[in-house]
Amino acid sequence: MSNIQYQISLKPYNTFGIEVFADRFIAIHSEKELSKVLESEKDIFVLGGGSNLLLTQNIEKLVVLIRNKGKKITPVGKNKVLVTCEAGEDWHQFVLWCIENNFGGLENLSLIPGNVGSCPIQNIGAYGVEVKDTITQVEALEIATGKAHVFQKEACNFGYRNSNFKHEWKGKYIITRVTFALTSDNHRLNTFYGAIQDVLKRKGVLPCIKEISDAVIEIRNSKLPNPSDIGNSGSFFKNPVISKKDFSALIQKHKDIPHYVVSENQIKIPAGWLIEQCGFKGKRIGNTGSHEKQALVLVNYGGATGTEILDLAKNIQTTVATTFSIQLEMEVNAI
Ligand code: EPU
Repeated sequence: MSNIQYQISLKPYNTFGIEVFADRFIAIHSEKELSKVLESEKDIFVLGGGSNLLLTQNIEKLVVLIRNKGKKITPVGKNKVLVTCEAGEDWHQFVLWCIENNFGGLENLSLIPGNVGSCPIQNIGAYGVEVKDTITQVEALEIATGKAHVFQKEACNFGYRNSNFKHEWKGKYIITRVTFALTSDNHRLNTFYGAIQDVLKRKGVLPCIKEISDAVIEIRNSKLPNPSDIGNSGSFFKNPVISKKDFSALIQKHKDIPHYVVSENQIKIPAGWLIEQCGFKGKRIGNTGSHEKQALVLVNYGGATGTEILDLAKNIQTTVATTFSIQLEMEVNAI
């Protein structure tokens, strides 16, 4: 392939801003270009928005940067549209485009870094909404055969920050486009999250999809570091879910522990709280640390290596496990 580049720094392509190198690198701009790559290369490293990735070493495989663009609108019924978006579109720009077109459903997911093609993998979520609530199907190319597959929502097995793409389909498919069912009128708004209500109340505005997006952007900007200023990957760990029995024991010792009931026997604890209680919030260790406004976000103050960040993550996991008997699971993909 003539457009392969050699010894390319991946620093601009991961939101942690970590400097590692790709031996060989190619950017694809269409499914056709991707198919062509798959004809001769099977052992590849697929890179989307690089927003959920911790790079700890140089990449010897061919790095394939997904940059196919385009959107297609299919009206269905009175108040509904299906929007199919190519995987290489920037997620936040796509959300803003939906809002400009008065398509509702994704406004709570404003300002999440990453690409459209990555959103189903970990079922991105924020402020009471998960992307699975609107996804109808995910299209992908199978790496081994180059064959196109269409996965209906049910087949994807979406859960909290989870899907089949993270497990049995991991490394087998490249997502090429995603279809969302959005409202074109009579939007059902999700203003349940307290911080959104607070912003809307303060501004005295009647909620609409644009106002909710603006509120979410304001909230995120107030506590989450912008990767273009300080390298980060959003939430580094998942919020752990523990049994009611374990929770009862925990609340005896920690009366003020925040929690959400997930089901009859499952309680979710904010990992940010656990990390803060262990004294990591705002603490800087070398070029890395846990962010001062949101302990769940690990940051690169500049020049950190992936290993340095991984070491901090392990330190946090061990301390939280010793203090609370809770094992934090990484949300970010470490390579
Ligand atoms: N908290 C602390 N200290 C902290 C951070 C949080 O005590 O430093 C406690 C507080 O009690 C707070 C609660 O945690 O009320 C919840 O915090 P927040 O609303 O910031 O949400 P989160 O559970 O920490 C999750 C997602 C975020 C998403 C927010 C808002 C996960 C792993 N993270 O964070 O997603 O933006 O909810 O819905 O579920 C991401 O995945 O990259 C991400 C930013």
